[in-house]
Amino acid sequence: MVSNGTNSVPWSFFLAILIAIVFTPKFSFAKQSKLMGMKMNTIDRCWRPNPEWRKYRQQLATCSVGYVGKMTNNIGNDLIHYKVTDPNDDPINPKPGMLRYGASVIQGKVWITFQKDMNIKLIKPLLISSFTTIDGRGVNVHIADNACLMISKATNIIIHSLRIHHCKAQAPGMVMGPNGKVIHIGPVDGDAIRLVTASKIWIDHNTLYECEDGLLDVTRGSTNVTISNNWFREQDKVMLLGHDDGYLRDINMKVTVVYNHFGPNCNQRMPRIRHGYAHVANNLYLGWMQYAIGGSMGPSLKSESNLFIAPKIWSKEVTWRKIGNTNEDKWKFYSVRDAFENGASFMVTKGGRVPKPNYSKEQSFKVVDVKSIRSLTRSSGAFKCSSTSIC
Ligand SMILES: *[C@@H]1O[C@H](CO)[C@@H](O)[C@H](O)[C@H]1NC(C)=O
Ligand SMILES: *[C@@H]1O[C@H](CO)[C@@H](O)[C@H](O)[C@H]1NC(C)=O
Repeated sequence: MVSNGTNSVPWSFFLAILIAIVFTPKFSFAKQSKLMGMKMNTIDRCWRPNPEWRKYRQQLATCSVGYVGKMTNNIGNDLIHYKVTDPNDDPINPKPGMLRYGASVIQGKVWITFQKDMNIKLIKPLLISSFTTIDGRGVNVHIADNACLMISKATNIIIHSLRIHHCKAQAPGMVMGPNGKVIHIGPVDGDAIRLVTASKIWIDHNTLYECEDGLLDVTRGSTNVTISNNWFREQDKVMLLGHDDGYLRDINMKVTVVYNHFGPNCNQRMPRIRHGYAHVANNLYLGWMQYAIGGSMGPSLKSESNLFIAPKIWSKEVTWRKIGNTNEDKWKFYSVRDAFENGASFMVTKGGRVPKPNYSKEQSFKVVDVKSIRSLTRSSGAFKCSSTSIC
């Protein structure tokens, strides 16, 4: 059939659409527009809308907020790119290709990525060197079933998009230290990530669950930490900020806890704070058993625009205070614009001033209205973006 002028226009139009559908990679239109329509929090909005984020992974370093500041010390011309190709572990003599080789042996700025999905069973705790980024975006990496991560006397570290679970306590022994030299370490509890005298640490978009001790411990003078976009679930002791009641150096500890998803089935410590200061903002709490936020030794807390959904049974009260504490009267637990569902309650400190975080320009971020918290924490945890370009 010979077409005349009027109907040749629609035909070429349909043809063009057909070509577009057939030849456009699966992810582009549908997924991208879905992504654009999604509400993203300020950290994610900084890199996720870029469909070429795999090519520009280091952009992530400029996206952090809160006490960690920006991670620009982790990027630059002298950056070493390291790819994990071997899921095996050797605690004393790690081979090139293993995670431990990139995280402990290589010194200087290292950006670690993974060749493929993998399950890594660490034989001893992984001691991460300063200026290291572990970037699990685009693959499904589990660190599970034995030893887990430790940051001891190190700074400028990013941990991103890892699934860390079923971590177990470890006996003392020899292990590759963060300076690339084999050292002896004492016994460790089974925590997913443990910080010891560490500073400028950013823990973003990880999924942490079912460990023998806790999921995340910030201890012994650690400070300038941002814990964001993580998913914590199935755990008794979730997050400890401050080593023990006697460890006075933690008075300077400053931690930002933002856009995290707590639950289901978390019991306590989201977080438990000793001595220092925590800005806990824009998190989603899907229940608790004993309490959500607690502490001892006169800690300061600004709880801001979090959504606390009390459990059906157990305690409806968000906070907990250690009784019989010498600093009992020095509590500073303030709640600002938080929302409470299912009968949740928050016992605030009476009088005094809400301690402001006093963020610098690069640390500061806009705390959003609690109405958006469900959507802004929807993609918390490690990403499921294995086969497409878009996360
Ligand atoms: C923490 O960050 C502040 C700047 O925000 C800096 O002055 C301080 O030295 C840092 N502390 C440590 C222990 O790195
Ligand atoms: C922020 O500054 C005010 C005024 O100096 C101070 O009272 C408050 O304790 C500071 N906040 C933190 C977290 O140090």
